[in-house]
Amino acid sequence: MSDKLIETRGSAGVMRLTLNRPKALNALNSGLLAELDAVLAELEGRRDLRAVLITGAGEKSFVAGADITEMRDKTPEQARQFASQALATFKRLERLPVPVVALVNGFCLGGGCELALACDWAIASDNAVFGQPEVGLGVIPGFGGTQRLPRRVGPAMALDLITTGRKIDANEALRIGLVNRVVPQGELESVAEELTRQLAGNGPDAVRSAKQAVHDGMDQDLDSALALETSLFALGFAGDEQSEGMSAFLEKRKPNF
Ligand code: CAA
Repeated sequence: MSDKLIETRGSAGVMRLTLNRPKALNALNSGLLAELDAVLAELEGRRDLRAVLITGAGEKSFVAGADITEMRDKTPEQARQFASQALATFKRLERLPVPVVALVNGFCLGGGCELALACDWAIASDNAVFGQPEVGLGVIPGFGGTQRLPRRVGPAMALDLITTGRKIDANEALRIGLVNRVVPQGELESVAEELTRQLAGNGPDAVRSAKQAVHDGMDQDLDSALALETSLFALGFAGDEQSEGMSAFLEKRKPNF
């Protein structure tokens, strides 16, 4: 690993971002957030981008939260600025036009859990630990947890986790819908590679439209959201991708997107 706080590598348009402060269990400080923001700003403009995977450096932690050392002496105004910085970066991540998948390789606490929630979905290794322990530090979640967690797992379970601050293991996270899959820690790499192949093999415009339909539709009433789906479905017939995908099926060959 280099001394960069965000490591990037990619193949076939799938970018892998690694948060790289392993000595502090990849805790989010303002320097790391600024670097992440700059990387995301670059990715926004890339037409060849198919998906983004995000993980933490080392074998112990995805992200153990916002950096407590940096936060301890903040004034309310400085705390507001810190939270606003993180929220803007997480929004940028969430709004990338391609799927963003969290590969949760260990502790996923506080701001780390909030980062995973800003991703479209998550795969956890079996040693992962999740929680919103902020109330034990005398504060509430400030990087989106009080809003994105209830939207992901429902308000009762979100309030259970946020008010008790209890930690849950990967299987409980799977059961409540916080993550989509749990895999043995040693298999996270091979699962990531397989996922990269799957994501890169599908029609790129279709995948972008699918993300747009789900995200934008969630903020609308059902009739408007279904109308949005119809528009995006029809738009899919305007380019080459649909004719290649359907022709490949009928000609019993793999599509060449
Ligand atoms: N901020 C700053 N440093 C952190 C950190 C954090 N969130 N989490 C861990 N570290 C540092 C530790 O201070 C320690 O540093 P030193 O080696 O210099 O002492 C190093 O990472 C390793 O941590 P531990 O020795 O504590 O490792 P452990 O295996 O004994 O425990 C842990 C692991 C259970 C994750 C424990 O580190 C822990 O509880 N961390 C804090 C978790 C937390 O409360 N997160 C929420 C933060 S608040 C927040 O995120 C607010 C928000 O919503 C915006």
